[in-house]
Amino acid sequence: MKITLAHTSRLLRPDFIFGVATAAFQIEGSADSREPCIWDTFCATPGRIKDGSDGLTACDHVKRWREDVELIAALGVDAYRLSLSWGRIIRRDGSINSQGLNFYLQLLDALKARNIKAFVTLYHWDLPQYLQDNGGWLNRDTAYKFADYAKVVAQAFGDRVHSYATLNEPFCSAYLSYEAGIHAPGVQNRQQGRQVAHHLLLAHGLAMQALQQYAPQALNGIVLNFSPCHPATDSEADRRAARMADQYHNHWYIQPLLEGCYPPLLNELAPEDKPEIQDGDMAIIAQSLDFLGINYYTRTVYRANSKAWFSDVPPTQPPLTDMGWEIYPQGLTEILLAMHRRYTLPPVYITENGAAMPDKLENNEVQDQARVVYFQQHLQATEDAINAGMRIDGYFAWSLMDNFEWAEGYAKRFGIVYVDYATQQRTLKASAIALRDVFAGRKNN
Ligand code: FCB
Repeated sequence: MKITLAHTSRLLRPDFIFGVATAAFQIEGSADSREPCIWDTFCATPGRIKDGSDGLTACDHVKRWREDVELIAALGVDAYRLSLSWGRIIRRDGSINSQGLNFYLQLLDALKARNIKAFVTLYHWDLPQYLQDNGGWLNRDTAYKFADYAKVVAQAFGDRVHSYATLNEPFCSAYLSYEAGIHAPGVQNRQQGRQVAHHLLLAHGLAMQALQQYAPQALNGIVLNFSPCHPATDSEADRRAARMADQYHNHWYIQPLLEGCYPPLLNELAPEDKPEIQDGDMAIIAQSLDFLGINYYTRTVYRANSKAWFSDVPPTQPPLTDMGWEIYPQGLTEILLAMHRRYTLPPVYITENGAAMPDKLENNEVQDQARVVYFQQHLQATEDAINAGMRIDGYFAWSLMDNFEWAEGYAKRFGIVYVDYATQQRTLKASAIALRDVFAGRKNN
């Protein structure tokens, strides 16, 4: 099965950036050569990871990076989005781990030699445990530590990096980690969730200042995840619930960044649930962005609950992915255009989009046709947003290869490349071949 786009498509123009994405903890392994992080601790806690697995080996990428760079190059992408392990770069005592830094330098050099643009995320959830031991993101000082780390990185990497994102999906590090309690460190406390969100945004602002000073040539910004919030019924209560969820999960992050204030829902929080915000914080948060990365997977449906708050209604109707997420491509166009109409956005990149499917390796092939269809539909949805007048400069498939899917462990496969964890063999799935053909077709355009 092929992915087809209209030959006039903006996505097929040579300056549109196509890439694949990964994150450090999900692929790197070699945990012995870095500081432990909050996900190591979480994995070691019984019952936290569905299959009881951890990130100690993962895709063994630190040892196999040369092979992986060849794999990325063979896909014909323009760009590779990766994240850095903070604890592979800065040691507990504050000194720089030159072996860790060297690993990234070599990797970035190899990408550059193949003309692949590096989109580097500084923080994709793997906070060093030594910082967690001092309060982690609840401690305001962590935001300043993050800016110091950003400075070290920007000074070390020079022009090897095309683009820096400060944070990946602060919604997850705040809400999933401190309110829903399903991500590390597994806390359930609304005030703490809001405080962590605020400190993450502050960390972003401080790190942006460092990046603009020490890596002014790079495209510097942040990656947010969005999900359109739909009411379960037409009732006024459910519609209100969906609007509240939209403020709480989507606008809570983008509005401070672009307008220097939280959405009005902040005022409706109980006093004991409000984050502490110091004078001047909002101005630091609202640094000008060179780009905004948007991650999209699905929509979310909400109903009003008895606490005058909102609850999500898990989807039951097919088509669903292996995560149980509804396949809802029109939601991508919807959320992109909603943000485009609501805000003055910097150039946008789709920094993650993809699906977990129940893949089977048979005769050295993975016939993941459902994933091919998913990409076809979401590339079309991206195109629809562009045709409606929005500027979108790139698209990254999540993920380059199967990897450690957080609380789900290794059971959920998001890769376009199949990983046999017993042998670490990588095999291109049908979706990788279909995407490779799109990238190649474009170059001949
Ligand atoms: C996103 C994360 C990414 C991956 C995908 C499936 O929220 O950024 O690491 O887990 O979901």
